Amino acid sequence: MPTTSLADETREAQPAMAGSANPATPGVTILFDEQRIAQRVEELARSVAGALDEEFVIVGLLKGSFVFVADFVRALDRIGVQPEVEFMRVASYGRGKESSGTVQLIGGMPDAVDGRTVLLVDDIIDTGRSLAYTRDLLLEHGAAKVWTCTLLDKPSRREVEVPVDFVGFPIEDIFVVGYGIDYAERYRHLPYIGAVE
Ligand code: IMP
Ligand code: MG
Repeated sequence: MPTTSLADETREAQPAMAGSANPATPGVTILFDEQRIAQRVEELARSVAGALDEEFVIVGLLKGSFVFVADFVRALDRIGVQPEVEFMRVASYGRGKESSGTVQLIGGMPDAVDGRTVLLVDDIIDTGRSLAYTRDLLLEHGAAKVWTCTLLDKPSRREVEVPVDFVGFPIEDIFVVGYGIDYAERYRHLPYIGAVE
C-alpha cells in the first residue's frame, strides 16, 4: 500500500496556490509589487558590485531588513559577489507609527567588522537616526569603511545627516509595510510594499 507523508499531502492539497496572484491585503495599497522590487534589487546589486571592493561584509539591521538582505545577497551572488552577512538589531520605533526618537542596540555587535569594509543595509531611512547611530557604532568598532544602503528613503523626514550611498526607492512621507517592514509587528510577510492606512 503506498504511503504518503504529510509533506506530500500538503503539496497535493494546494496545487492551485503555486503562481497565483497575491490578493491585496485589506487596508494596504500596493506601491511596489514583487516584480518591481526584484528588478530594483538586481540594479542595486550591480551598483554595489561596481563601487565596492570585492571583499566586504553586509550588516543588515533587524528586523526590517531581513527580506531585503535575503534577496540582495542572492542578487549579488548572481553577479559573482560573495559578501559575508551579519545582522545587528536596533530599535527606535515602539509599536506605533512614530519613532521614539532614541535608538538602542539590542544584543551584541558582530565581531567581523574590525578592519573590514561594511555595507550597512536597512529597510527604510526616515529620520536618519538608526543609520547614523549604527554607522557610528561600526566605525567605533573598527570598520575601515561603512557604505550605506536602504531600500526605501523618505528624504522629507530627515532629522540627522547621514550619507546614504545606495537607495532603492525614494518615497513621500507615507507609512509603508511589507517586504520585511512592519506596522506593530504586522505585515512583514507581504511580498510587496504597500501603504497602510
Ligand atoms: P529612522 O531611524 O527614523 O531613520 O527610522 C528608520 C526605521 O524606522 C526603519 O528601519 C524602520 O524600521 C522604521 N520606519 C520608518 N518608516 C517606516 C514606515 O513607513 N513603516 C514601517 N517602519 C518604518
Ligand atoms: Mg527598522
